[in-house]
Amino acid sequence: MPCLYAADKRYARTGASSELIMLTFNPEKIRNDFPILTYSDSPLVYLDSAASAQKPCVVIDRLDTLYRREYSSVHRGVHRLSEHATAQFEASRVSIQKFLNAQYAHEIIFVRGTTEAINLVASSYGRTQCRAGDELIISAMEHHSNIVPWQILCQQTGALLKIIPVDTQGQLQIDVYKNLLSPRTKLVALTHVSNVLGTINPIKQIIALAHQNNTPVLIDGAQGIVHTQVDVQDLDCDFYAFSGHKLFGPSGIGVLYGKQNLLEAMPPYQTGGGMITTVNLEQSQYRELPYRFEAGTPSIAGAIGLATAIDYLNQIDRAAAHCHEQMLLHMLTDNLLNIPKLHLIGTAEKKASILSFVLDDVHAHDIGTILAASDIAVRVGHHCCMPLMQQFHVPATVRASLAFYNNQQDIEALITALHTVRTIFK
Ligand SMILES: Cc1ncc(COP(=O)(O)O)c(C=O)c1O
Repeated sequence: MPCLYAADKRYARTGASSELIMLTFNPEKIRNDFPILTYSDSPLVYLDSAASAQKPCVVIDRLDTLYRREYSSVHRGVHRLSEHATAQFEASRVSIQKFLNAQYAHEIIFVRGTTEAINLVASSYGRTQCRAGDELIISAMEHHSNIVPWQILCQQTGALLKIIPVDTQGQLQIDVYKNLLSPRTKLVALTHVSNVLGTINPIKQIIALAHQNNTPVLIDGAQGIVHTQVDVQDLDCDFYAFSGHKLFGPSGIGVLYGKQNLLEAMPPYQTGGGMITTVNLEQSQYRELPYRFEAGTPSIAGAIGLATAIDYLNQIDRAAAHCHEQMLLHMLTDNLLNIPKLHLIGTAEKKASILSFVLDDVHAHDIGTILAASDIAVRVGHHCCMPLMQQFHVPATVRASLAFYNNQQDIEALITALHTVRTIFK
């Protein structure tokens, strides 16, 4: 939604009409929901949400109550606590199904995070579908977790990895992508939002093009789930992977959404307890979806905590939250451009509130260390995107990643500190 930010009041333009509506989003109220932001007297300037987001009270409290009063293993017990925990765990699956607008709850597979979700597909779908000479398409802006599993699959099967290049602004070259698609393409695996550049990729168009070629698409939604409102049926993606800890939920839990027909045709990824109907010493029978992909005791508290984070997100005005993030992004971008010898890495037209930059003559790690002295948390390094660093000819960047709990003071603190860095390294 294109948005307009006027003085103290928050507005957004409604879709087709250009009528202005006032939004219900109050960033200061939101900040109070996140205890870590106000925990100490010197305020924390947390600009590292793309690595892992902070947790609202409701999630922290839910985990506390769960462990104090309700916790038990799921699925196998007949006692009261186990039945209750099972009901909560399965209700969490339904919350996530609704959040993604997936058709069925059994299309939601609980995993440890985006990395495990992608490995699951590479291992299960990949090894059964890929043969020597087949092709897989990824892009040059992928996180290592959406590169390495496909490289290994290619080594094991003889398939070839094709790369969609990224232009100097940090946008995918869609014309090249169209030419990469061929009858040999077995899967397109692509990030929704770049964790370095902030680029929001046109995934709906990319998926439609792949489907014209009868090729399924996996979307790495680690960042996309946070900054956009995802509807997997509308996108028509075949797989969508994300991590709970970036979506204000606990770490150790993530989701693989997969279309029922694809998941049903896939063999188990990990094996053991919980994913079988019968085992004898010669052979085993596997359970139905989603359990055949959930071997072992799952992250029970993780799933329940993630559903609580989703309940929290559902009760805020997310469109307004995105507007707020966009306002901060533009404010930060404008101010960064005033800092001498600073270069933005990633200037795509459509960006989420993730911003990378470098300063001439100053190593990113030195910048990060100076900022840390003022309790400003940014991320420095290659952000698990080494090929992208190589393309932009930088060893590392400083990345400020903003969530809806950030405010104007956070931006001012960062800019002031960066001017100090510039003075130190004159
Ligand atoms: C775009 C992207 N993909 C994948 C991942 C991996 O996520 P996780 O470490 O939670 O599995 C990240 C994490 O930073 C990411 O930003």
